[in-house]
Amino acid sequence: MAQKAKAESKFPMHLKLRDGRQATIRIMEPSDKDAILKFAAKLPGDDLLFLRTDITDKGVVNDWIDNIKKGNTTTLLAEVDGDLAAYASVHVEPARWTRRIGELRVNASSKYRGLGLGRRLTAEIFEVARGLGLKKITAQMTPDQTAARTAFEHLGFQVEAVLTDWVEDRKGHPRDLLIMTHDVTGFSDRIVA
Ligand SMILES: CC(C)(COP(=O)(O)OP(=O)(O)OC[C@H]1O[C@@H](n2cnc3c(N)ncnc32)[C@H](O)[C@@H]1OP(=O)(O)O)[C@@H](O)C(=O)NCCC(=O)NCCS
Repeated sequence: MAQKAKAESKFPMHLKLRDGRQATIRIMEPSDKDAILKFAAKLPGDDLLFLRTDITDKGVVNDWIDNIKKGNTTTLLAEVDGDLAAYASVHVEPARWTRRIGELRVNASSKYRGLGLGRRLTAEIFEVARGLGLKKITAQMTPDQTAARTAFEHLGFQVEAVLTDWVEDRKGHPRDLLIMTHDVTGFSDRIVA
């Protein structure tokens, strides 16, 4: 917990996007629920197809907030001119035998993509996750989510598994699931950019 508090004490922080605008990165609070629902409602159809969990659903966002309150999830929000531009989360399931594995999730609004925000935010949540005493940090995506894959590869994540037809998109089509991982104490050391 002390490590977590240390990692989080650097927020809010500011970073400059590739177009010169400034993003503020801060920790998500339960009161951010409506901002998340608004963000989700504006996601393009293609993104909605591949949402890991359906954050357009109020119940799903309520579960997210509950996990924040319980300390199972830490989420960073990136705001540009007061607009929610992206989020990144680390989630741990303490009751399961995968309790030493943390899962990262990251999502940027289409309006703010290609500006370096996703990569920076992924790096920030990765640092938060590294402070949690986890054995392994993972991210799940479909193989065609290339920007996500690139952002995680920059941090030294490797493809650990491809599970064929493991997930289904919103249209009911089967998709492969790519599991990328970083072994905190193991062989895939972080690449410092
Ligand atoms: C993943 C995501 C957050 C990246 O956000 P972003 O702000 O556009 O990312 P960046 O601008 O920092 O780019 C990250 C890297 O991906 C590359 N990239 C960006 N868009 C790309 C695209 N459409 N195709 C291929 N590569 C792309 C960038 O060049 C950059 O690599 P570089 O630093 O070596 O140049 C965003 O694409 C997203 O929200 N995707 C949908 C959700 C998702 O896939 N989540 C991952 C599951 S955890």
